[in-house]
Amino acid sequence: MHTKKMERTLTILKPDCVRKQLIGAVIDQIERAGFRVVAMKKIKLTRETAGEFYAVHRERPFYGELVDFMSSGPCVPIILEKENAVADFRTLIGATDPEQADAGTVRKLYADSKGENIVHGSDSEENAAIEAGFFFSAEEVVRSN
Ligand code: RTP
Ligand code: MG
Repeated sequence: MHTKKMERTLTILKPDCVRKQLIGAVIDQIERAGFRVVAMKKIKLTRETAGEFYAVHRERPFYGELVDFMSSGPCVPIILEKENAVADFRTLIGATDPEQADAGTVRKLYADSKGENIVHGSDSEENAAIEAGFFFSAEEVVRSN
């Protein structure tokens, strides 16, 4: 049987997810979809580190709001592994704007707005690797199952 390539992606359970006490519910949905947790921590980004993480959006009108939001409370970055992880994870979380997201997706289920949308998902394998390195050192990345 043909199988797709094993990949890793980086997600962040954003500050709204943590505030709403949805860490467990969202990780449950992620694991049920076949993703394995490779590394995970809970941290609070500063305005500086949040700005660095989303530096690609520096010129966008929503950048200031995004940096304020992402540094507004603790978040939970997670490295996930699965075949075709990058694309499958973006399917699982749904469109950036929850109003546009498909039924049953994480953002449709839990997000309040396009800005406060519960989860991040890497948009390419290359960016997934860069983002994983942003949060985790080599010894924190352990696939034990
Ligand atoms: P993410 O990077 O967080 O997974 O989200 P995404 O790819 O679906 O969306 P992206 O275009 O990369 O935007 C990054 C984050 O910026 C906030 N945003 N706010 N108010 C707005 O119009 C707006 N647009 C984007 C969201 O938190 C989005 O997830
Ligand atoms: Mg993005």
